[in-house]
Amino acid sequence: MPTLRNIALTAPYFHNGSCPSLPEALEQMAFHNLGLEIPKEQEQDLIAFLRTLTGEKPAILDEGSR
Ligand code: HEM
Repeated sequence: MPTLRNIALTAPYFHNGSCPSLPEALEQMAFHNLGLEIPKEQEQDLIAFLRTLTGEKPAILDEGSR
């Protein structure tokens, strides 16, 4: 399962990049993994929470630069 850190910055979502937006990823997660349809207001609260996970992006170093 991928980390949710900086999730607002890393669209498109899922392993194949098939999901263009965070609200859509949330709807798919809720439906497929939890069997839920999240009411719009709660969805906005969840998106607001996911946005709080935004911070400094760690540098990704390749083997040659270590
Ligand atoms: C409301 C609760 C949840 C939220 C907000 C959420 C959010 C997300 C998001 C935004 C992604 C995309 C990450 C990316 O592409 O970088 C993701 C992927 C994923 N989530 Fe969730 N998720 C939730 C619940 C769950 C649950 C309950 C499970 C498993 C029981 C789950 C399993 C996964 C897996 C396996 C992926 C990777 C799918 C792929 O790459 O195709 N998620 N989740």
